[in-house]
Amino acid sequence: MELIDIDEIDSITRSTVWASVYSQSCASCHGIQLEGVTGPALKGSNFGVLANAQMMTADMLLDVIAGTMPESDPGTLKTEEYNAVTSYILQQNGYPAGATPFARDAPSVKGARITP
Ligand code: HEC
Repeated sequence: MELIDIDEIDSITRSTVWASVYSQSCASCHGIQLEGVTGPALKGSNFGVLANAQMMTADMLLDVIAGTMPESDPGTLKTEEYNAVTSYILQQNGYPAGATPFARDAPSVKGARITP
């Protein structure tokens, strides 16, 4: 499993921020456990199928989310919130936090294949 660098702030603050962005903007359609409701699951084997079919990388996931989500209001979150929520989804899929901030062009993010 590849290590995705995510953030500099301490892990407790980090997971609180991630989880609150997700629960406010995404959970209504993707489920509080990322299990999928009207939107697809973002965790586990169903998400794995989707990610593998698209040969998804961490920066692609960020672009899809920032470009098309929340489906009801695309593009309305701040860049940091899109970074945070993408980090959260990766963390929920078992990718550990790294030492540097999650950012689109970070070497550990750009082109890093996700295999949930
Ligand atoms: C109003 C409901 C709704 C909300 C809110 C919402 N989504 Fe979605 N999402 C969907 C639906 C429906 C799909 C499947 C159709 C599509 O891909 O557009 C989807 C698809 C996705 C996908 C898969 C795209 C792919 O590669 O096929 C991701 C990742 C995703 N959403 C993440 C998020 C995140 C993160 C948020 C919060 C910032 C969010 N969504 C908020 C409804 C929603």
